[in-house]
Amino acid sequence: MVTFKVTRVQSAPIDGQKPGTSGLRKKVKVFTQPHYLHNFVQSTFNALSAEKVRGSTLVVSGDGRYYSKDAIQNIIKMSAANGVRRIWVGQNGLLSTPAVSAVVRERVGADGSKANGAFILTASHNPGGPNEDFGIKYNMENGGPAPEGITDKIYENTKTIKEYLIAEDLPEVDISAIGISNFSGPEGQFDVEVFDAASDYVKLMKSIFDFQLIQKLLTSPQFTFCYDALSGVAGAYAKRIFVEELGAKESSLLNCVPKEDFGGGHPDPNLTYAKELVSRMGLGKNPNSDPPEFGAAADGDADRNMILGKRFFVTPSDSVAIIAANAVQAIPYFSSGLKGVARSMPTSAALDVVAKHLNLKFFEVPTGWKFFGNLMDAGLCSICGEESFGTGSDHIREKDGIWAVLAWLSILAYKNKDNLNGGKLVTVEDIVKQHWATFGRHYYTRYDYENVDAGAAKELMAYLVKMQSSIGEVNKIIKGVRSDVSNVANADEFEYKDPVDGSISKHQGIRYLFEDGSRLVFRLSGTGSEGATIRLYIEQYEKDSSKTGRDSQEALAPLVEVALKLSKMQEFTGRSAPTVIT
Ligand code: G6P
Ligand code: ZN
Repeated sequence: MVTFKVTRVQSAPIDGQKPGTSGLRKKVKVFTQPHYLHNFVQSTFNALSAEKVRGSTLVVSGDGRYYSKDAIQNIIKMSAANGVRRIWVGQNGLLSTPAVSAVVRERVGADGSKANGAFILTASHNPGGPNEDFGIKYNMENGGPAPEGITDKIYENTKTIKEYLIAEDLPEVDISAIGISNFSGPEGQFDVEVFDAASDYVKLMKSIFDFQLIQKLLTSPQFTFCYDALSGVAGAYAKRIFVEELGAKESSLLNCVPKEDFGGGHPDPNLTYAKELVSRMGLGKNPNSDPPEFGAAADGDADRNMILGKRFFVTPSDSVAIIAANAVQAIPYFSSGLKGVARSMPTSAALDVVAKHLNLKFFEVPTGWKFFGNLMDAGLCSICGEESFGTGSDHIREKDGIWAVLAWLSILAYKNKDNLNGGKLVTVEDIVKQHWATFGRHYYTRYDYENVDAGAAKELMAYLVKMQSSIGEVNKIIKGVRSDVSNVANADEFEYKDPVDGSISKHQGIRYLFEDGSRLVFRLSGTGSEGATIRLYIEQYEKDSSKTGRDSQEALAPLVEVALKLSKMQEFTGRSAPTVIT
């Protein structure tokens, strides 16, 4: 057995290692500075405590973006030196974020071992490549992101770090070949196991959904399907699940070979960045004249999803509401009922209406998937979703892009059970419109102002908070802009008290709540790597089923105008238009 020594490397704090909404994300050039990654990894080990790290089993993998392979070798060497017992790596270092969560929760090693946590190497939907982003985050034993208590400790540790431990002489591990390598260090044996990236995840999906029913839909000549992985890690799972297991045609996969730089694209599944899929589905510029019935896309690490019908976009806020409304009938995992449902604050209230109708427990949490984890661990929530193209359930503790697609395919398969021999198909558009007719429609749009000057963004937010103390003044401004927009009844900064552990999260977004149920929400993004991104969320409820079929930008135009004037968006940011509209 190859033996290794432990080296203590002198280091010093490097500024700016505070984890954001979902881990530490920076430009690759920042990550490749001497000691940068090492300081963060050692700070994580120190936050977890030496006793917990010693003897543990950790998963290390990610979306395969540029710099992942180097990072994996470094983390293996540091894990060995810190007394970790074994490291599990997905073949070629690839594991989607939901698959990591599934592996941590479900996988049992050959010797009966279970994982204690995971380093996930991804910057999610941010571009990759030598000049783009890299990221790292730590997930706990429940398969979910580390809670703030731990990430705060990690950050504190990065500010005082003096040294890190590394097994410099440990040979590189071949992560392209499945198998186990054994090493021996001062604390005893250390193993690295490389395993198939998809099988644990596929097994879990098969235990949740009725694959036979979905297969009937996907192989029916009446149904056409398209999936775009945007050159992210979802491609590895899409091929296995949609093609090999469910019989979809290979030609229904777009950009399903994972690439280190996502083919130069922005791996974010929305109407702006998933251009190829959008036109294939008959939307956007150069629309295809004969689009498929169903289309979906994922982000770089495959936890996000976008759902499209033929010439039809499903907003993520509607998507979670529709999945929740149909889950018990269409998805075997939920057949005995839902424990509860939850959404993030800026997500539209479409889910609230379903929860009320079905008499389900309902929770509104701050932005960030980690807030759902506590509810799920306490058995309070089965299905949850966010406007930011995240949807999922308590089968794992991350949002899950492929799960969302399987959920939609299950609903379509269920509704079309009797239509697949020539009958008229119930389409995605039919399902959504039927939902609006029953529950009303929440018109919804999000305006993003990316890479705005950080100081200007702060000033805009401070201004909006200040305005909240004079609602009378706010309503005067509104009436001066649009007399057809209702009055603001209430305005606040969203604050959340976790019902499970009692912890309080403040300053989670600025809300203006209107008398007719409309909402304006302003938030600063927590996931960018440069400057600041202002997000403006605009929502309006329409209960009258004769008015739910309008174009959403048109229906929301008055409220948008009010939002831009009220916030003095252009004055503060110098921007006359957002960079992305979803
Ligand atoms: C990540 C988190 C999501 C969250 C999103 C918000 O994707 O996993 O839970 O909704 O970030 O991003 P933002 O840029 O709006 O902070
Ligand atoms: Zn992601």
